[in-house]
Amino acid sequence: MTTKEKVLHYLEQFQARVVSGQEIADQLRLSRNSVWKAVKALQADGVAITALANKGYQLDAVPDSLAKNRILPLLDEKPDYIAVHSSLDSTNNAAKTLVAEQAVAKGVILSEEQTKGRGRLGRQFYSPEKTGLYMSLIYKNDLQVDAASLTTAAAVAVCKAIETLTGKQPGIKWVNDIFLERKKICGILTEGIISMETGTIDTIIVGIGLNVRQPERVPEEIKSVLGALFTETTPPITRNQLAGEIINQMGNLYKNLKENAHLEEYRKRCFILGENISFEDRESGEVREGTAHSIDEEGSLVVQLTNGRQQTLRYGEISINIKEMRTTV
Ligand code: BTN
Repeated sequence: MTTKEKVLHYLEQFQARVVSGQEIADQLRLSRNSVWKAVKALQADGVAITALANKGYQLDAVPDSLAKNRILPLLDEKPDYIAVHSSLDSTNNAAKTLVAEQAVAKGVILSEEQTKGRGRLGRQFYSPEKTGLYMSLIYKNDLQVDAASLTTAAAVAVCKAIETLTGKQPGIKWVNDIFLERKKICGILTEGIISMETGTIDTIIVGIGLNVRQPERVPEEIKSVLGALFTETTPPITRNQLAGEIINQMGNLYKNLKENAHLEEYRKRCFILGENISFEDRESGEVREGTAHSIDEEGSLVVQLTNGRQQTLRYGEISINIKEMRTTV
């Protein structure tokens, strides 16, 4: 990282607060003169930094474009591939193409917008520019984990990242939707690439779509369910910070994925337990009702049916029958 990048990154943590030149110099082990020069260079680049005589520097507005060089310094472990695009059809599609072309053990692909963002069950995922975080994480499946474990881990990682950076407490609707104040703010699409040689899942792609702030135009059909992490037009944290924190949280959970150690955290955040739910049975196609009973050791949802029997759902989608809360997007 250049001195300029270091100074910008430091100031980004204290947005709208005056930070003394001495503090920056001490923390970054630089001379005050180098700090001053870096600030001048950043100002010349168009970064809005106010210099207050005898007080220090204040970053007026954090540049919120996604940028590789703003995410990389935040990461605990560097991935072997990371790219930020201004527009893609889908980051999951780009991840698949990449994996077909070159070996990637751990990779990250982000895009400012997606023109054909994909959701679960063949749905579209509305992905307008600047307001969301659209990111695919690539994992070579060395641990031979189940894709479902990565999905539940990703839901926990997103919640923990949001809690760490904002103090807000989102909840998980099984299996992988994140809700805040009864609105969906994030969806996760996990896809596996099967090796032709072994017939096993060779690489897993975890696609995360987080609505950071509400877009100006929202399609009518998702208006009532689509929420956003922030209501303000200038959120207090950047999408780069969110991306970095989600990747770090995911990295921590990945280490113990084989033991499904993250499921305890998942259960704590899963707000549907104890609620009346309905779902379509995959085999019979009939709609069944019951109470969400528990999450088992594999992340499956155990449902206590109204007919007295129990059914375990490994995949699929449920609707929660809470008054005034329609949860299927
Ligand atoms: C859902 O809610 O149905 C899942 C949505 C997943 C959206 C993300 S955005 C990044 C990645 N690329 C895609 O095309 N989809 C996923």
